[in-house]
Formats: sequence, C-alpha cells, structure tokens
Amino acid sequence: MVKILVIHGPNLNLLGKRETDIYGKFTIDDINREITDALKGKQVETEIFQSNHEGDIVDKINHTTAAGIVINPAAYTHTSVAIHDALKARQIPTVEVHLSNIYAREEFRHKSLIAPVATGQISGFGKASYILGIKALLEILNVR
Ligand code: DQA
Repeated sequence: MVKILVIHGPNLNLLGKRETDIYGKFTIDDINREITDALKGKQVETEIFQSNHEGDIVDKINHTTAAGIVINPAAYTHTSVAIHDALKARQIPTVEVHLSNIYAREEFRHKSLIAPVATGQISGFGKASYILGIKALLEILNVR
C-alpha cells in the first residue's frame, strides 16, 4: 500500500462559489470524489487536506508519512518560501497542480515558488488537473 497526500491551499474550499468563470462550478467535494474514484481498486491510501493557513500546510508536509504529494498551493504558489522550503526539506515526489492556466493570467501568477521543488507541474485543465496530477504521481511512484 502506497500513501499519497493531496493538499488544497487557501480559498479552494470556496470552489463552486468563487470566480466560477475561472474555476468552474464544481466544489472541492466534487474534486475529492473524482480523486477517490480514480484511485479505486489501486493499492493506494489517500489523505486529502485543505487549509487556508500557510503554517498548517507546512506542518502537514513536515510530518506526512506519504510517499508522494499532489498539491494545489493556490495563492501560496506565488508567495510561499515556507512551503517551498518544507517540500525541499522532505524531498517527497510532488506534483504541483492548478485548475487555471497560471501563465495565461495576471503577471503575478506567472511565477511559482513551488515549481522548482516539485517533480513537475500541471496547470490549466480544470479539475482534470488533479486527476492528471494523480496519474503523474502514480507513474513516478511506480504504482500500476
Ligand atoms: C490556482 C491559481 C492561483 O493563482 C490562485 O491563487 C488560486 C488557484 C488554480 O488552481 O488555478 O487560488 O492555484
């Protein structure tokens, strides 16, 4: 059994109500259900965590026993040296995901502080970004 950790950053709890033209009408529960469905029948244990607080995300990364991480750092993507350092410290294979294409939006979203410490990044496919991220992580972890 391989354990993976999915982290949703700040304001993603508001999906379905928040800027639906950009993020869509689905909720975080819809995403979580799709993730769980995609992993059915696989030897994978999944922990899903959402927080609006940078330190809580850092604590989660510090103490996780997961073999791999899928993270949508949301606004912390563009600001958080603390999450960058936490991921760098643990060296756990990590896929960074974004619902929107951050490079097609405001300039301040073009820079990710997480990308240099992630294995790779998936951006712009709506909630499918998470499923693609999970697939990429399973590939890295050699889970069939
Ligand atoms: C986001 C993109 C970020 O720029 C933004 O702050 C978010 C969501 C995305 O999934 O597209 O909150 O990470």
